[in-house]
Amino acid sequence: MASKLLSTSLLTLLLISFFYSISAATNEDTTRKTMEEFSGYPTDSHNSILSSSLNSFSVESEKLQSQIDELSTLSDSPAPSVTRILYSEKDNLARRFIKGIMEHVGLSVREDAVGNIYGRWDGSEKGLPAVATGSHIDAIPYSGKYDGVVGVLGALEAINVLRRSGFQPKRPLEVIMFTSEEPTRFGISCLGSRLLAGSEALVNTLKIAADAQNISFFDAAKSAGYNLSPDDLSKMVLAEGSYSAFVELHIEQGPLLEEEGLSIGIVTAIAAPASIKVEFEGNGGHAGAVLMPSRNDAGLAAAELALAVERHVLESGSIDTVGTVGILELHPGAINSIPSKSHIEIDIRDIDEKRRNGVIDKVHKTAINISQNRQVKLSEFKIINQDPPALSDKSVIDAMEFATEQLNLSHKFMISRAYHDSLFMARISPMGMIFIPCYKGYSHKPEEYASIEDISNGVKVLALTLAKLSLQ
Ligand code: GLV
Ligand code: MN
Ligand code: MN
Repeated sequence: MASKLLSTSLLTLLLISFFYSISAATNEDTTRKTMEEFSGYPTDSHNSILSSSLNSFSVESEKLQSQIDELSTLSDSPAPSVTRILYSEKDNLARRFIKGIMEHVGLSVREDAVGNIYGRWDGSEKGLPAVATGSHIDAIPYSGKYDGVVGVLGALEAINVLRRSGFQPKRPLEVIMFTSEEPTRFGISCLGSRLLAGSEALVNTLKIAADAQNISFFDAAKSAGYNLSPDDLSKMVLAEGSYSAFVELHIEQGPLLEEEGLSIGIVTAIAAPASIKVEFEGNGGHAGAVLMPSRNDAGLAAAELALAVERHVLESGSIDTVGTVGILELHPGAINSIPSKSHIEIDIRDIDEKRRNGVIDKVHKTAINISQNRQVKLSEFKIINQDPPALSDKSVIDAMEFATEQLNLSHKFMISRAYHDSLFMARISPMGMIFIPCYKGYSHKPEEYASIEDISNGVKVLALTLAKLSLQ
């Protein structure tokens, strides 16, 4: 039953493309309309014409798994963890690996100023805006091998699936590997897609950005072979409509699909993330000699603020509000020295932007109070980003739902609590995301795992979604 449904549905799409390519020489609109109306009910003669293509509509799972495994070895931490930081040697090798696969798939490859990598398959109508898909391959310290990677290598396999099936897109299809979705090195998330979506503020931030070793963004980029200037960044901005649609395949990074035994999540919205840097300064001093009433301990100020973040998040009363202090650094960092400086980074998210902003305001007020009470200086309270949420577009949701149903895969509509490059692509293009289950929802840790069966389902849904969107 399932395989019959699958054959019928695949035929549907292939028929559309097959007849679409014939229609170029005839009255294009009329033929296409007829075929689209017709497409749910293929006849036997069409079956026989396309049966050879149908047989090859499958994911090469073993090859895909070995690519995922190979990419995971390009890491600065021991397996099973993966650490791949922007413009590091391993990131550079990983970029070369992806470009090699893109070329092998037969895509025309190009790179922009910051190293977003694009692989394009021209459609039968080259002038039309492309349908794009993609994700990232950078990995936060000690994370896993599937976050982002599934949406890049999986997208390239989706192109292979379509090629093997004989599908001919009308709109070009483009796979994008985004630079630095993770904020690890310069504190800026979704750097590549954020620039494409247009952010003069970001260009200015990057002019003065430096990493923990005080290497500037531009020097880091240069060391990886990207010799760029601030002007190059401003020129990266894409006009709205540059892509007709953007779809990202990603592991869920939460437990719902696995718990509910579902194959596919169709993402309807992405929650609103924010990140904040805070610094306190006190006088420091000798851990034995300075008595407690005389101290102004910058470390305790940071600790108090970290607890306040948790309190203010919980006060929102909603399970959808989350807050994390993932970085807490003390200077000089010696057991017998009172911290004279502290640095903390706070991540706050919610599906409700207003409520999230309310928590940020409270955290700011509390930081001021702590600095007064403890007689430490609040030397910095900087909101690095305070992004609005993004909604998926109905046209992309419909295409994803169509693909999922045609493939006879169970699914649910859901929101993404993690952010993705899709958050920014949504500003310039209709956007949608396909989630697949991952083990216990684990992500951003070495135990992250998605089965190749689930990945392959995601690849098929992505392939059909791209095919459908490319014909619209
Ligand atoms: C992305 O990596 C996120 O932190 O949501
Ligand atoms: Mn991530
Ligand atoms: Mn990711």
